[in-house]
Parts: sequence; structure tokens; C-alpha cells
Amino acid sequence: MSSSQVMSQALRARIMSADEAAALVKPGDNVGMSGFTGSGYPKAVPLALARRIEAAHARGEPFRIGVWTGASTAPELDGALAKANGIDLRLPYQSDPTTRQRINSGSIEYIDLHLSHVAQFVWFGFLGHLDIAVIECSGILPDGRLIPSTSIGNNKTWLDQADRVIIEVNSWMNPALLGMHDVYYGTRLPPHRKPIPIIAPGDRIGETTYRCDPDKIIAVVETHAPDRNTTFAAPDDVSRAIAGHILEFFAHEVKQGRLPRNLLPLQSGVGNVANAVMAGLDDGPFPHLTAYTEVLQDGMLNLIRSGRMDLASATALSLSSDAALEFNREIEFLRDRIVLRPQEISNHPEVIRRLGVIAMNGLIEADIYGNVNSTHVRGSSIMNGIGGSGDFARNAYLSIFMTPSTAKGGTISSIVPMVTHVDHTEHDVQILVTEHGLADLRGLSPKQRARTIIEKAAHAKFRPALSDYFERACRDATGKHTPHLLDEAFNVVPPG
Ligand code: COA
Repeated sequence: MSSSQVMSQALRARIMSADEAAALVKPGDNVGMSGFTGSGYPKAVPLALARRIEAAHARGEPFRIGVWTGASTAPELDGALAKANGIDLRLPYQSDPTTRQRINSGSIEYIDLHLSHVAQFVWFGFLGHLDIAVIECSGILPDGRLIPSTSIGNNKTWLDQADRVIIEVNSWMNPALLGMHDVYYGTRLPPHRKPIPIIAPGDRIGETTYRCDPDKIIAVVETHAPDRNTTFAAPDDVSRAIAGHILEFFAHEVKQGRLPRNLLPLQSGVGNVANAVMAGLDDGPFPHLTAYTEVLQDGMLNLIRSGRMDLASATALSLSSDAALEFNREIEFLRDRIVLRPQEISNHPEVIRRLGVIAMNGLIEADIYGNVNSTHVRGSSIMNGIGGSGDFARNAYLSIFMTPSTAKGGTISSIVPMVTHVDHTEHDVQILVTEHGLADLRGLSPKQRARTIIEKAAHAKFRPALSDYFERACRDATGKHTPHLLDEAFNVVPPG
């Protein structure tokens, strides 16, 4: 393995194996790890730590830690530590099956946070003390500055706040990543805050590398491994139909003068529907697009490569393995067109509001009045977490939620009388789209919204039951503003 990406002589002296580095983590530590949507997470130390935890448990010794990250990671981090029963508390987001199972069975405490809140909550002292950071970088410069890898997330804050730091230097990462990142060091605590000086999505306001006190770096571990790499399905009929409705809506808004011809900066959630919308935009009439988003997926990368999108700002890449290879091949072209920022900036409400971002996110269920549940199945079991959806939805110029109209093979309606858990209130949801149509909720009262959502977005087989519920609620509920029959609001089933 090449060690040429560790260019600091002083830090070369701290190179050790992953097992030796993992031995520096103590039971009960809060550990801040890099990693965001399966990219830029440490590849070796968490696995070594999981082995150490398993060995401790086999000897009857308790060993669990708090795991703080940017967002979701990968089987080598969340998966391995959860399997070893080594996670006591997890924040701020996850999407790992084993971690999810342990959270839902009650053996991991989980704090699901707005992603823009995490860094400031640590600075405010709201989340306790950060003992140690484990951060993947793509290199260390001779003067000790750290070159970020494929995500930034909360790394700047972890490096600043942790007592001790372990750096993984991943030689699989292209050294030409240097220059793509923009690490902002200007944030202050209230009451000394100043405006974040971003007025266009591509503005660079920070540094291309992380600062870190070299005395805190207790270990450097060399790795050579790709990111998790997300697999995307080719757009199916449902996601293509949803994308079609959104593109038609954009064209209408341009015609009405409510959007410029190149739209406004786009934010797109993760998943296949989001990818299908990006594919639709590639064939659409809108030139010179921009993005101010959290995660850059294949679809957005394709828009940049085809020249349809001028630039994208994000905090992480989340690419399929083919797209990751293309990214590496074309990095010189892409470096001027992609800016990776800390998640407190990529998701900053002030910047999102200023730029007029168009937010597009997925959901688990929405109710007839426009409240959205993004996180919980049947009100009690977590799926992933709110992620950045709340940062964007509340502050966007246009807040769009998109979903297939049914789940679980058509047996469950995604449109329900009353959501079993609320992540986004009726006040933060302007457009609701399914394969059946687009419900434009702007300027509508609750009862007008209900009629629009049932007519435009619900699946035909669930419409009669939803309409029946709504009409009876209008007749029998004590309040006629947002009428509900609470004893049956969670139990609308299709006839037969
Ligand atoms: N009832 C029960 N389960 C449901 C459901 C419902 N109404 N709707 C969806 N699900 C289940 C699906 O069955 C699937 O589970 P499975 O893989 O076990 O079958 C899972 O939820 C994901 O649904 P899917 O249809 O594949 O949608 P998706 O990949 O678009 O994900 C969210 C939807 C809501 C889970 C996802 O968008 C999310 O985590 N959002 C919150 C974070 C976020 O928005 N981040 C982006 C901000 S930048």
C-alpha cells in the first residue's frame, strides 16, 4: 500500500495498524466519526473496534460507545458496531438494517436530528462531550493540514471538539480531490454570529482543507478501499410518472413567472425517485441548472457531465460504483463544478432561504391535510431519520414531497387521514406528488387541501375510503377547521 498521501513527517511517525488505533478508544467514549450517505466514512478502525468490543463482551466485560456521524455510513461502520452490540447511543441519522433493528428493539438509544443542527448543538454543549474523532481523509499535507475525502459532514466540528483524533488516510481516494472542498471556519456562537456570506450556490467562503492541532492526532491509519457505493434502480413507471408531474409543474411555474427559466437551486433527497427527477431534467427544457443540496447522486452528476447543470453544492457524494469511477476519471472537470461543504453550511436555513432553494424529498406517509411523516412506520418504528429534509422543507422557496401513492405492494396507502408521526407539518409542505398527480397546496385552507390531495395524489382504490372519512369528519367532528374523527383516523382501509 502506498503511504505517499501522508506527506507530514511528524504525522508519518504516528502511522499504526487499525487494531492499534482501535485500542485507543475507551468504553463509554463518545466517538465522532466521518461519514455521510455511505461516503467518506472510516473503513478500518470501526471494524477493528467492533472486533475489540466482541472480544470484550466474550470476556464478560461491558464495552459500548456513543457513535456520532454526519449521516448514514456503511456496513463496515454502523453495521459492524451494531452487530457487536457496541453502540449505546447513535446520532444524528442512520439507514443501516442492523442498527435500525437494534433501535427498534430498544437496545440502542437514537437521537434523530435536523442535520444542520448537529454541529451547533455540539458547540452549544447540548449533546455532551466528544471524546475522540475518527476521520477519513484523502491525504495529509506536509504542514499537517488534512485533505477531506468524499464527504465533509461534521468533520470540522469533530476535529475541533474531540480530545483525541484518529485519522484514516485512504489512498483509494483521488489526491486531485484537493480543491473541491470549502470548509468554513467563520461560524461563531450567539450572540456573536455574522451572516453566512453565500449569495450564489458556488460561492467559496472557506478553506480547501481541515485544520487540526497535530498534538491531538494520536494515530494515523492507512487504508485503500472504495466507499459503500449506492446502487440505483433504473427509473420505473412510477418514478418516471412522478418525475413527469414535477417537470410539468416547473414548466408551468416558469410560464407563470414564478420561476426563472433555469429554475432556482435544486435540493434533491436520496433514492430512486430523486434520481428519476434528475434524469427527467437532463431531457428537459431547463438550461444552466444549479443545485444547493445535501447529497450529490448519480443523476445530478450526469446533469453536470452533460452540461445541463452548471454547478452543485453539497456535503457528500453518494454514487454508484460506475459513477464513482467516472467521477475519478473526470475529477479535473468536476472540481470546478462541485463544492463540498460542512453540513451545517450545506443545510443552513439562512442560506437555503436566501438562495430560494427548490426542495424535493421523499416520505413514508402524508395525510389529507398535508402533514408528512418521513421517519416512522406505524408511528413507532424508525426507518432512517429526518436527515436534512426539515432543514430544506421549512426554508425552501418551494417545498415538494414525492412518493409512490402506495407502499408494500399496493396494500398500504401513502395518503392517510392522519399521519402516525409528524416530521413536516402542514405549514412546510407546499406540493405533494405521486404517480397519480401533483397536489398544489399553496394558498389552500385545510379542507381545500384535503380535497386536492385525495383527488390528485391518492391511489384510486383508496380514494373512496379517504373521501368517506373526510366527508364524515366534516359532518361529525366538533371542530370544522381541520376535521378529524380520532377514533378511526389511523384505520382507513380500501373496500373489499
Ligand atoms: N408504510 C410502511 N412502510 C413504508 C411506507 C408506509 N406507508 N412507505 C414506505 N415504506 C417503507 C418501504 O416499504 C421501504 O421499506 P422496505 O425496504 O423494507 O420495503 C422503505 O419504507 C423505503 O421506502 P421506498 O419506497 O423505498 O422509498 P425511498 O427509498 O424513497 O425512501 C424515505 C423514503 C422516507 C424512507 C426516505 O426518503 C427517507 O429516509 N427520508 C428521510 C430523510 C430525507 O428526506 N433525507 C433527504 C434530505 S436531503
